[in-house]
Amino acid sequence: MQGASRSRSTWARWVAAVAACAGLAAPVSRAEGPATLDVDVSKPGVAIPAGFFGLMTEEINHSYDGGLFAELIQNRTFQDRGARPGGVPIHWSVVGPGKVTTDEANPVNAALPVSLRLDLAGGECGVANDGYWGIPVRPDTTYTATFYAKGGGEFAGPVRASIRTDEGDVSVAKGETQPVTTAWKKYTVTLRTAHDAATTSKARFVLSASGPGRVSFSLVSLFPPTYHDTPNGLRPDLMKLLAELRPKFIRLPGGNYLEGSRFSDRFNWKQMIGPADQRPGHMGCWGYRSSDGLGLPEYLLWCKQLGAEPVLGLFAGYVLNGDHFKSGSPEMALYTREALEEIQYVSGPADSEWGKKRAADGFPEPFPLHYVEIGNEDWFDRSSSYDGRFTQMARAIRERYPHLKIIATAPVKSFKPDLYDDHFYRSAPQLMRMATMYDPPTGAAPPLAFAGGGWNGRQRDGTLTFVGEWATQEGRPTPNLNAALADAAFVMGLEKNSDAVPMQCYAPLLVNVSPADPAKGYPRATQWGTNLIGYDALRSFGSPSYYAQVMLAQNKGDVVLPTRFEVPTAPPTEEKPRGRIGVGSWHTQVEYTGISVTAPDGGKLLTANQARDVKSWQFSGGDWNVRDDAIAPAARDAETWAFTGDPNWSDYTIRLRARKIRGREGFIVIWHAADSDNYHWWKIGGWQNTLARCEATNGGGRGPYGTGTPFTVETGRWYDLRLEVTGHRLRGFVDGKLVTEATYEPRATPRPVFATATYSKDDRTVILKVVNAGKTAVETAINLRGVDRVEPNGNGIVLIGEPRAVNTLYEPRKVAPKQETVTETSASFHHIFPPHSLTILRLKTSAHAQQARGAAK
Ligand code: AHR
Repeated sequence: MQGASRSRSTWARWVAAVAACAGLAAPVSRAEGPATLDVDVSKPGVAIPAGFFGLMTEEINHSYDGGLFAELIQNRTFQDRGARPGGVPIHWSVVGPGKVTTDEANPVNAALPVSLRLDLAGGECGVANDGYWGIPVRPDTTYTATFYAKGGGEFAGPVRASIRTDEGDVSVAKGETQPVTTAWKKYTVTLRTAHDAATTSKARFVLSASGPGRVSFSLVSLFPPTYHDTPNGLRPDLMKLLAELRPKFIRLPGGNYLEGSRFSDRFNWKQMIGPADQRPGHMGCWGYRSSDGLGLPEYLLWCKQLGAEPVLGLFAGYVLNGDHFKSGSPEMALYTREALEEIQYVSGPADSEWGKKRAADGFPEPFPLHYVEIGNEDWFDRSSSYDGRFTQMARAIRERYPHLKIIATAPVKSFKPDLYDDHFYRSAPQLMRMATMYDPPTGAAPPLAFAGGGWNGRQRDGTLTFVGEWATQEGRPTPNLNAALADAAFVMGLEKNSDAVPMQCYAPLLVNVSPADPAKGYPRATQWGTNLIGYDALRSFGSPSYYAQVMLAQNKGDVVLPTRFEVPTAPPTEEKPRGRIGVGSWHTQVEYTGISVTAPDGGKLLTANQARDVKSWQFSGGDWNVRDDAIAPAARDAETWAFTGDPNWSDYTIRLRARKIRGREGFIVIWHAADSDNYHWWKIGGWQNTLARCEATNGGGRGPYGTGTPFTVETGRWYDLRLEVTGHRLRGFVDGKLVTEATYEPRATPRPVFATATYSKDDRTVILKVVNAGKTAVETAINLRGVDRVEPNGNGIVLIGEPRAVNTLYEPRKVAPKQETVTETSASFHHIFPPHSLTILRLKTSAHAQQARGAAK
């Protein structure tokens, strides 16, 4: 083992250096005794599908408008909600002495019902657009402005287009049209910035004219260079980030955006094809209007440019306000027909009715299409109409397109789907635990059940699972490193089970992180808490979770290898238990009020007044709100906890009142919370509202202790709860009556680590993937069985940092993968997996067992 120890020290030095750069204080403190990681290369298992990694997408957080769609003009058809002084449409303003009004009497066509009229006042005047939180200016850059214009009164001059800085009103690029006519006509002006133009997003786009009379505008557009220079195309920096994820499919559109808030706002794809001047746009479900400039043809462009296939989301007759049509209704007949036509638009021959329209939109070649998804999260439809709606659409699709795999979004019984789409937004410990949820069931496995957005494991009847939305909800607006590690473990668990889960995609993908601009009355660009890739008008960055997924997608391998990872547990601590307090919800709508904490001497640690301040709480697994003095989770159906207080509190009494509004269980009260992975709780009405019992969560792993007392929480009734915490002992009272008495016996705890291995046949490489989300390094003896020889220099890729570390516009690669050679590798060697890290080791085998070669073919 001489070589092994040299390898260990080389790597340890490198890891120490990387960890020091990442700001970790004690980077390579070792676990008690080495762990062992056995990988059997001679027994290859699941063949990982080529299409395992994909993207989920919808218009949320200005993902398209103000995001991937490169258009720079916000409110380009003047129909967005809100106006500036004088009725000037939002994001527009008047330049100079002219007068600006919206005009609905002179539309270009039915899809462009509003125009902007500029009454001139002699000298130069115009209209300015401030873009999506600014217009990005870069040197040596060509911009293409297009707009409809028509003159009126005595005006017959040219229109000038320019980009002007906010500070100093400097025109950094300009051009002009021919003299405009009195009929609507589309004009194109090319603008180019100079070599020395300063990079900024503090700029506006201005259309101006001088003279008497008036000029009107419609569909005003400004494009910078796009990815692969495609007209009407996509933003290059974001596309480059997406390409690194090597997606093989795009779920388009997924999410609430498919459904819309009302029927009038559903994803109506027929209004999102053809030229831009034929697309009316619609109100999106995330609080802003969608221009639909990124419509179905642009989704296909996106797929084509990334080499991905669409997973086509089909509107299924249910909208977010709960309205729906039943199967057999004329409306469901219409939506079913439209779904078949949409499939033809995407994948039909260029001479078919809808394939012809795709060809006219620039894509003569049909797109490969293997998966369609009917609806989105239809478990929100409490009317039980999904079974009928799904069945009606699925039958029609199966008859017309028998090769298509059909995805259901909620349990159905009248038609067997090919896949179910499970969704999981969870805390880091939860998602990390869920890394094994799709493992083949053993004797002790719980029965298959659907709750909280997905099934609790692999289907038993051969139906496959598509995890079409998942994410660790930690870090805002983008995830931190701790979230990235849980995400990595979860994806590794899915990959290991990709015979049952052949596809997965994180959500949401994109977030414009621009803040609110109260002076102008603009809201912030973000709606969702935790998102993969952030950007503003000028810059972009991948989150740690993005980099974890890049690492995994680029090191997928062809086949899963069986692994056994045995890690010594941490010994129990002798220290006096301490920690904060909290409340929680387990798929139950609950509220808590009058929360106070008292020390054993009667001193007040937390008063009910202090607890009323929402800012004093931290949340895990979802947001909470304070309303009418009570704190309650924002989501009705989530696993979420709220923490407050001092981590140094040891013995105390917690008092509070609790009420259940609806849901499956009862109350959760938390004590001795060190962080969201380590705490104790008392569940009153836990276990499907049957028991009161204590549980301890250590390093994300949870287990009950003490005896359970039968207890059922009544809905709508207020309960008085009291918890007396003394050292490891808990006495829990409900309405003054002792219900639970339990003493926790500290024990060795499992470490938050996870390992898988795959094999890549082309380069005969074993790919080890190891998450160590714990505070201590894990020294590991690695044994590759069934391998004759391993080349002595392997490749190591490590994502490491402080667990709360995030990337930002200003530090876009604070947490990013680092590559290094791992020397002295062999079929049996030692390696140190540093704290808070994801490590991928690529170990090239020179010759290996026949079985591996066979299965990997
Ligand atoms: O990804 C954000 C939202 O979460 C999606 O729109 C919806 O499907 C889910 O509830």
